[in-house]
Amino acid sequence: MIYITRREHFNAAHKLYNPKWSEEQNNEIFGKCSNPNWHGHNYNLFVTVKGEVNPDTGYSVNLKDLSVIIRKYITDKLDHKNLNLDVDFIKDVMPSTENVAIAIWNELEPHVNALNCKLHCIKLYETENNYVEYFG
Ligand code: NI
Repeated sequence: MIYITRREHFNAAHKLYNPKWSEEQNNEIFGKCSNPNWHGHNYNLFVTVKGEVNPDTGYSVNLKDLSVIIRKYITDKLDHKNLNLDVDFIKDVMPSTENVAIAIWNELEPHVNALNCKLHCIKLYETENNYVEYFG
C-alpha cells in the first residue's frame, strides 16, 4: 500500500456566524471571522489516496485523473464562491475549515473509489498557519 497526494487550490469567501447567538456572542467566539460582509481565504487542499502500485504503470493512481475529479467535483464548485451561500454540498453547516474538509471528503469519496484507490486524508489549509486533516 502506498500513499500519494495531489494539491489543488481555491479561493473562497465565508463568514462564521451563528444566527442563534447575539452579535456580542458571535464577536466573542468568531472575532473578525464573523464580519457580516464576508472575508476570503486562499485555500490549499491536499487529497491523499492510497492504493497498490500497478506493475505496468508504476502508478498507484494516475494523478491527472485524480486532479480531474477534484476539480470537477470540488474546486470548480468552491473557487470564487461564497461558502455560506453558493455550494450545494456545504449547506446548513458553519463553513469552518473542519466542516468544509468533512464535506469535501463526503463529496469526493465515491469518485476516488471509482479510480481504484481509497481516500485516505483530506488536508485543508485555510491559512499558512491553520489546517485540518480528516480521515473519514
Ligand atoms: Ni475565515
